[in-house]
Amino acid sequence: MVQATLKIQQDLVEWLSIVGDQLRRDLHSPLKVSTKSGRNDLVTNLDKQTEQFYVQQIRAHYPEAHICGEEGFGDQLTDLSGLVFFVDPIDGTMNFVRQKNNFATMIGVYLDGQPLVGAILDVIGAKLLVGGAETGVQLNGYPLKQIEPAPIAEGLLGVNAMMYAANKYHLQDLAAQTSGVRVTGSAGLEFIQVITGQQNGYVSSLSPWDVAAGWAIGQGIGIEAHNLAGQQPQLRDREVIIAGIPEIWRSFQKLQN
Ligand code: IPD
Ligand code: CA
Ligand code: CA
Repeated sequence: MVQATLKIQQDLVEWLSIVGDQLRRDLHSPLKVSTKSGRNDLVTNLDKQTEQFYVQQIRAHYPEAHICGEEGFGDQLTDLSGLVFFVDPIDGTMNFVRQKNNFATMIGVYLDGQPLVGAILDVIGAKLLVGGAETGVQLNGYPLKQIEPAPIAEGLLGVNAMMYAANKYHLQDLAAQTSGVRVTGSAGLEFIQVITGQQNGYVSSLSPWDVAAGWAIGQGIGIEAHNLAGQQPQLRDREVIIAGIPEIWRSFQKLQN
């Protein structure tokens, strides 16, 4: 089983590295930008092209697998049985378009709904984070040790700006117990920060492809993820996710009555 997971991990590393090179090369070429659900929900030709590349690779190497892709080139999933690849071709498309920085590309792989392995590439920062419960976690090829949780008073918290501004789920009160909040506009980069110990947690409303890679990698290092009901992420629809060291979830829960 570990061998099979390692093979998937190696493939993820190869595909994300190819995509990283392509995105860095094409970043300053004219983009075709359109909107999806609203004026701040963007998609570009490179989001679509990248997802098509991943789908081709997955279909060629894992023909039995199902694919849940943000831009719709995967499958219509009816359940999470078997091997499922969750693909976010460009995470932080707003940053990609407006900043040409602070975006990621990521894939999370699940077996019967349980996390197997994930990979997130910070494309401009050149940080490639891969791993899972079976394979451990590596940053640019170097193994990371299990998280040694620090008190939440001594660490930062990543948040969704809208949720924080509205004090949804007492997020301002949770943040008041920490060293402060940070907002990056990319779930993938937030997970990189949590998993590498730069933040103690991240709270946001996330789609399956936003959370799949980070949660799978987090499993390899002691990072948890819960939804509002205290369950593991359901990976069916967008839901509020509280990810981080265990104390983040305990402190979040205490504020919810
Ligand atoms: C978005 C980013 C953002 C998060 C949104 C996501 P996208 O992903 O991760 O940080 O707040 O919920 O949809 O649409 O750029 O792939
Ligand atoms: Ca995306
Ligand atoms: Ca995303």
